[in-house]
Amino acid sequence: MLEKITPIEVPPERKRVHFKFPASPRSGRTVLELQGVRKAYGALEVFRSVDLHVERGDRIALVGPNGAGKSTLMRILAGVEAPDGGARQPGQGVVARYFAQDEASRLDPSLTVYETLSAGSPIAMVPAIRNILGGFLFEGDDIYKRVRVLSGGERTRLAVARMLLHPSNTLLLDEPTNHLDIDSTNVLLDALTDYGGTLIFVSHDRYFVDRLATKVLDIGRGAAVLYPGTYEEFRWSRAQ
Ligand SMILES: Nc1ncnc2c1ncn2[C@@H]1O[C@H](COP(=O)(O)OP(=O)(O)OP(=O)(O)O)[C@@H](O)[C@H]1O
Ligand SMILES: [Mg+2]
Repeated sequence: MLEKITPIEVPPERKRVHFKFPASPRSGRTVLELQGVRKAYGALEVFRSVDLHVERGDRIALVGPNGAGKSTLMRILAGVEAPDGGARQPGQGVVARYFAQDEASRLDPSLTVYETLSAGSPIAMVPAIRNILGGFLFEGDDIYKRVRVLSGGERTRLAVARMLLHPSNTLLLDEPTNHLDIDSTNVLLDALTDYGGTLIFVSHDRYFVDRLATKVLDIGRGAAVLYPGTYEEFRWSRAQ
């Protein structure tokens, strides 16, 4: 006798989002240079003397414990905070975009989700807006919600979507994966994998770092040491 088969509820599959970054002319070979950078907050010396050379196409993950100085170095790299000593030299033709650790709180609370993306997006990207909103789980009437009513996770998703719509050849991302669910993380991961520019990022998501990083910058004890290899190789070398 045939047994009665109970159908299993399958959640509707999310549309796979194919997102192409808006084109931006590529930068020169050297993207950023730090020489002897020192940074202190009062008596706390976060960096003693950091040298760093960032080349076009690098994908550098900043790793280190909480409070090590990752966000501080990102702000210095992005040029939004000056070092106390040493120099920062940006390369030729660098069009950089910086995603701060608190980027989600920098959205305009009075705009709707859709307006947040359409305001300031290049006209060529407008047809992509709905597509990318769907990829970051904003569907139907969600797109008319005001930022002020969104949850923390929703704001992060929106901030990431907004960043992806702007042309750049250099991205500085400080924990863009915070509060992102797995699907949204994968949309971001796919977009960044196809990104032709230079990437410097912080993430506590090991899978994300493993998939993206071609170099690792080890932050801590007042220093930043560049390891030319993947995160897996970096962990392996540290375990020896
Ligand atoms: N504006 C500031 N004024 C005073 N101290 C600061 C300031 N910004 C950062 N610090 C201190 O500098 C150190 C490095 O902070 P930073 O935010 O760069 O660490 P982080 O590696 O990004 O940590 P997390 O993983 O928690 O984000 C911390 O001890 C922090 O308290
Ligand atoms: Mg930080």
